[in-house]
Amino acid sequence: MLDNIDYRDYKKCDDIHGTVLYPAVMVAPIQKDILKNLILRDEIASVFDPFHGSGTSLYEAMEIAPNMHLVGCDINPLANLITRVKLQGVNSNIKSDINELKEHIIEPKDISYFSFPNMEKWFRTDIIESLKIVRSAITKISNDQNRLFFWYMLCDIIRKYSNTRSSTYKLHIKEADAISRMENNVIEDYIGSVEKNIYKFLHSSNNFILYKCNVLEKFRDFENELFDISITSPPYGDNATTVPYGQFSMLALYTIDRKDLELEGWELDNYSIIDSNSLGGKTKNIIMNDFEKALIAPYLKKISVAKHKKVICFFNDYFLFLRELCRVTKKYIVLTLGNRTVDRVQIDLTNITKTFLEKNGFENLKFVKREIPIKRTPKVTSIVNQKPVSSMNYEYIIIHRRNT
Ligand SMILES: C[S@@+](CC[C@H](N)C(=O)[O-])C[C@H]1O[C@@H](n2cnc3c(N)ncnc32)[C@H](O)[C@@H]1O
Repeated sequence: MLDNIDYRDYKKCDDIHGTVLYPAVMVAPIQKDILKNLILRDEIASVFDPFHGSGTSLYEAMEIAPNMHLVGCDINPLANLITRVKLQGVNSNIKSDINELKEHIIEPKDISYFSFPNMEKWFRTDIIESLKIVRSAITKISNDQNRLFFWYMLCDIIRKYSNTRSSTYKLHIKEADAISRMENNVIEDYIGSVEKNIYKFLHSSNNFILYKCNVLEKFRDFENELFDISITSPPYGDNATTVPYGQFSMLALYTIDRKDLELEGWELDNYSIIDSNSLGGKTKNIIMNDFEKALIAPYLKKISVAKHKKVICFFNDYFLFLRELCRVTKKYIVLTLGNRTVDRVQIDLTNITKTFLEKNGFENLKFVKREIPIKRTPKVTSIVNQKPVSSMNYEYIIIHRRNT
């Protein structure tokens, strides 16, 4: 297992994972290789991804074992919609629904009104008009499953024709010149990508549950050793800065009809609320035990006191997550991790996690380091004390098994 983790030639655009952009996704064939190995070597009835993002691991598990019980959680409603569509695919009405969608787009009638905060900042007026036509057409499709697929396919179009730069996951306005140079092909592009990608959505699972909520709260509903495999890539503590999953998703979330999103009610309040409610985003009561405090103490010593709060806040949530993960996992824990830098000090999240899991009853089977070939987050992210600070260029995959 994991003898070749390079996958430099793997192109997401050839498979379902290339049909929508999401930050910090896992490399699908690597997750598939791991899952295949574990599923072949052991009796596995369930796979759990507590931070499923765009659903890479759950989809790959379904590809290996179509009847596998799949459970996922994510706080971001866009991640929920993306993963739901990947797992449920489209149904047999899809051809006639595409024809109906095209009719509503080509001869638009009763275009429904929609607006959101700062809409004119993020879209040119003519783009807003085109998006309104497409949005209104999608809302008229009565088949729920296919309508969700149509929203899914709109996500990358929204991003492509918005005024935000493609070089970062944050919302960062383009130069005025670049905005005025954009050609408006929203409608042709959208219909083209629906028709081009439809065949990638023909597989489906009828044995999955997705929770749109904070997994730290959801854990309370799960009994001990409920899941055979837990496989995930958690946030690394930089959701407010380098990889803001929520901020990245807001333009799509504001455009998609609320009725088709799983919402608790607070998610659309502002552009940063999803990130601040995410793992490590808010200060709470510190509940780390002495062992956990000792794991991060060597790093805190080297980091300026001003940055302590941010690191403690992240690890307070992260250790709670790991404790619960150990409790609910029966057999294997598979994590893809990165070591982020705070104040020029690299925090070895991978070894901290490995030590934690070993102490909590899970022996290490594999520890693999992998260079990340292409990154949207720049290798140098900021300048601190006149020196450049590099972001993560490696990811690590660790596989642990419950001690017998
Ligand atoms: C690294 S991404 C997962 C990417 C995923 N492995 C993929 O391939 O697309 C981390 C995810 O954790 C989610 N997240 C952050 N805090 C969370 C929380 N407290 N509860 C549930 N999900 C959370 C984010 O919304 C994001 O989708």
